[in-house]
Amino acid sequence: MTVESHQTIIDSFKKANQDQIFKYYDELNTNEQNQLIEQLSKIENPTDLINTVEKAIKHSSSNSEESSNFTQLPNEQTASTLDLDAQVLNHWSDLGFEAISKGEVAILLMAGGQGTRLGSSDPKGCFNINLPSKKSLFEIQAEKILKTEKLTQSKFNLLEKPEIMWYIMTSGPTRESTEKFFKSNKFFGLSSNQIKFFNQGTLPCFNLEGNKILLNSKNSICESPDGNGGLYKALKDNKIIEDLNNKKIKHIHMYCVDNSLVKVADPIFIGFAIDKKFDLATKVVRKRDSTESVGLIVLNKKLKRPCVIEYSEISKELTEKLDPLDNQLLFLRAANIVNHYYSVDLLTKMIPKWISSQEYLPFHIAKKKIPSINLKTNEFYKPTEPNGIKLEQFIFDVFPSVELSKFGCLEVDRSEEFSPLKNADGSKNDTPTTCKNHYLNRGTKWVKTNGGILENESDLVEVNPLTSYSGEGLEFVKGKTFKNGDII
Ligand code: UTP
Repeated sequence: MTVESHQTIIDSFKKANQDQIFKYYDELNTNEQNQLIEQLSKIENPTDLINTVEKAIKHSSSNSEESSNFTQLPNEQTASTLDLDAQVLNHWSDLGFEAISKGEVAILLMAGGQGTRLGSSDPKGCFNINLPSKKSLFEIQAEKILKTEKLTQSKFNLLEKPEIMWYIMTSGPTRESTEKFFKSNKFFGLSSNQIKFFNQGTLPCFNLEGNKILLNSKNSICESPDGNGGLYKALKDNKIIEDLNNKKIKHIHMYCVDNSLVKVADPIFIGFAIDKKFDLATKVVRKRDSTESVGLIVLNKKLKRPCVIEYSEISKELTEKLDPLDNQLLFLRAANIVNHYYSVDLLTKMIPKWISSQEYLPFHIAKKKIPSINLKTNEFYKPTEPNGIKLEQFIFDVFPSVELSKFGCLEVDRSEEFSPLKNADGSKNDTPTTCKNHYLNRGTKWVKTNGGILENESDLVEVNPLTSYSGEGLEFVKGKTFKNGDII
């Protein structure tokens, strides 16, 4: 970079009132100056960015929409595996497996989060939830993929096992350790060619007023991952969309790394979307009760489009309203688990639009404790109270840009498919222990359903994903006795 281009970058930040970034510039050696300018050069237009942050702050304090705008999605867009007949489920499963056999399905994993609540220094996917096998979440997921490939091979009598591409989104903080973990575990039996890591982007961190970028050191600014909504920009910037099209992949199953029960590449879900010609579909679980703090997938009546609303955005009356067709159920009960189907056509067409404007993916602000340089003392410090804001985009903010007829919502059984790892042990929900228990309860249920016997009523066994993907293929346990901690 030339001296002139250095100066242009400095000027553009000073024009955006960011003089603080250069407070130590003259003390830095050339190398350090270059590092700072290199980092800043990735921010195209600082003035625009500051305006964006101002908008984000306004957005976060503006009144949310009227509750009465939200209702259930129409029946044509929804289905529930809890009450569908087996014929329909089999049909969807067949369609999903067929697409896998033709190499048309890829998996997209979001693993860029920093897992601050869990408090582990490793990425969440490396976490061992203390199953008898001591498997990490990554290993469980890789084995689900292997099993899907094997099931596809035997279903279609293929000479070779198909390889499902696994695109793994990491972030600056999770990339290196994630890749290292996969390499040191020999990709858990998958081929290294079928796994592609890519990084999501970052955004600068600001002071609480949102008008000054914080310094991480005298020659770097503070940055954080751009949120799960950063997925779309990352797919474009890392040329994943091109890769998908080159490989003639048509269907994507996207999920979050921290769901310990996830059915990776779920043929039923993929088949549901194929059958109904949906461009985007989402899995949901039934909201437990009116007090559960979850986002909900609903219809925005005004826009006639799907959207996600946070529990805090709807009135108490609507939150507690019962379904007139079944008063055992809540009216709005489709709890968001961030588990999506995308057609590659949709991503190819819409991503350029989605990432071009705040209209589709606005920045949300989160007040956080951000270790940074205190400009008064010139010392690096770790705050004990929130001292700044991180900017995040939300993956589901693009839902209203999808036509209602192209959007699907599949309700699945929580005990079979959803148990997230969010908090450290000691918290009430979503901990390593709750994940382990849900995982073992599910396997034990499968074994009992197939006629397996447990020594004691309370014994729990682990079913290896390579033995069974979702309860199938366990006829061999009939009449056999198992004890607590057995791995099948
Ligand atoms: P969460 O929003 O629960 O965040 O992520 P987290 O980072 O795992 O945990 P906390 O909030 O710091 O405690 C849900 C999913 O979205 C991914 C995570 O990896 C997880 O799969 N995610 C989140 C990203 O990929 N990038 C992000 O910037 C944020």
